[in-house]
Amino acid sequence: MLIRRIKCLKYLGTRYNSSHYVTTPIFYVNAAPHIGHLYSAVIADAHCRYQRLRYPELDVRLCTGTDEHGTKIQQAASLHGVPVAKYCDDISQRYREVFRSASIQQDDFIRTTEDRHKRAVANFWRTLYTRGHIYSAAYSGWYCVSDETFLTDSQLRLDEATGTRYSLESGHPVEWTEETNYMFRLSQFQDDVRHWVKTEARIRPAKFEKILLDTLSEPLPDVSVSRPSNRVHWAIPVPDDDSQTVYVWLDALVNYLSSVGYPDEKFSVHWPPAQQVIGKDILKFHGIYWPAFLLAAGLEPPGQLYVHSHWTVDGQKMSKSKHNVVDPLQAAQQYTMEGLRYFLLREGVAHSDGNYSHVKAQRILNSELADTLGNLLSRASAKSLNPGQIYPSTSAEHLADLLRSLDAAKRLQDSLLQLSERCASHYECNHFHLVADTTMAALHAANNFFESSKPWTLKAGAPDGNQARLETIIAMTMDALRLSGIVLQPIIPQLANRLLDKLSVPTAQRGWNYLAESFATSPNSSNSHPGFGESRQLDGQTSALLFQRILEETAAKEVNQQQPQPAKRSKSKKKERRETIS
Ligand code: MSP
Repeated sequence: MLIRRIKCLKYLGTRYNSSHYVTTPIFYVNAAPHIGHLYSAVIADAHCRYQRLRYPELDVRLCTGTDEHGTKIQQAASLHGVPVAKYCDDISQRYREVFRSASIQQDDFIRTTEDRHKRAVANFWRTLYTRGHIYSAAYSGWYCVSDETFLTDSQLRLDEATGTRYSLESGHPVEWTEETNYMFRLSQFQDDVRHWVKTEARIRPAKFEKILLDTLSEPLPDVSVSRPSNRVHWAIPVPDDDSQTVYVWLDALVNYLSSVGYPDEKFSVHWPPAQQVIGKDILKFHGIYWPAFLLAAGLEPPGQLYVHSHWTVDGQKMSKSKHNVVDPLQAAQQYTMEGLRYFLLREGVAHSDGNYSHVKAQRILNSELADTLGNLLSRASAKSLNPGQIYPSTSAEHLADLLRSLDAAKRLQDSLLQLSERCASHYECNHFHLVADTTMAALHAANNFFESSKPWTLKAGAPDGNQARLETIIAMTMDALRLSGIVLQPIIPQLANRLLDKLSVPTAQRGWNYLAESFATSPNSSNSHPGFGESRQLDGQTSALLFQRILEETAAKEVNQQQPQPAKRSKSKKKERRETIS
């Protein structure tokens, strides 16, 4: 019956719902934000920015926030000798600052210590309870505080020397716990959850769908959904039973509902989320517990879980003890936040771990943002070649001649003609690295064209001086820059804006549909840029220096200077990594 209900709701959802609700995980406030956390947020942000750009009629909503309850937070606050509420305020604020500085365009930042959330959790609990999905039982098992989860024997490793057991997956220690808890009848939802997971493109990349289905091939045990208040006091009390507090994962998952106004009816405007971005370590909670809780409460589970892998630093897991945790604000001092965003989305692929290294970041940013993109803008707007500081219009005659006589012009045209469709299909799958690849290929073609057409031989006073031809070359180059700027807005919003500002592209002409208007699509027209008609003045207020090259010494210095220099990844390995995406 439940299965039929999911199908039916799904149908209604696609047909009538113009909401596109996207979430990031909410971040634990036991430690400061690092680039791994920022990565979850940047993926969700780029996804939403693309949706807004491509489908202006869609009501896109992005929610992020902080996860503030539980033993782990209790312990972190007491370790720092700070009252737990203040500790949460401080770290939550740091997340806000990082996200603001990284241009994360969130519609809501939710904290699980807020009243609106506590009310939602209490309501959700009562719904599960009244529907008979929660019962009280004596429970014993191994609890992992770091992961805030009970683990079975098969999920543990015993260190014979010390007698300590550790989680096989996360490596964190566990402790034996015997207590009376409320249990959720997870076992009864096995088939429904499996059916939900198997629905086309529910879990992406596909490798994570397989992992979930493997877990679901074994019987699911019921799960504890409360802890005694005397053990975990920094948590939401179980309604009508003060001796227990709500299990932190149930509490945390409900944030996705609280943010859209649950339990008030208005929440259904946005429900269910179209896409929930999560890291691979929290797949079980989002891919099994979450749909089961929702189905038990009579609510529709999310449309898609987009699961990303992790960042290592020079091949090692980030951890405080290894002193290799990369602080986004510190990294941004070197690369700028736009540079950091570009690096994370350009180098990260969801299906396998990415390696963060300064050498690699420096190489990519210098070659792509400084040289391929920035340098082309500087050249096309250099006073020596472009003394009037204009975005010229093309001459139909010279355009036709260039396209006929110069291979590089034809190649640029071909590449711009494919840009919109190719990048759209990559964006639809969150394959941001392929959007960057495709755009850089177009910009390489533009650089090539600029070089081969030798505009410096055409400027006034040069032997072959021909202003109309020179302006056509500059216009074609600026068209390539303009289209690249439009495409890159979701990945590097500020940098793309500056590029489009410099080119005097009106805000209303930065939408995805404007990719269809350039010399490439209208080779017979003299108005290459849409709505301009005639040549435009470049914006004198905006610098033509888009991205400052990162110097060798700087890159090797500041952030995490104790890290050894990594070996370069071979090209074939990189290729292999990219080709296995599903
Ligand atoms: N609070 C839970 C999530 C609750 S959602 C209802 C949590 N928080 S977390 O702060 O530990 O992690 C938040 C996100 O950061 C997760 O998606 C996690 O995968 C991601 N990352 C944490 N370390 C990471 C890397 N080293 N690399 C990439 N992402 C990483 O889990």
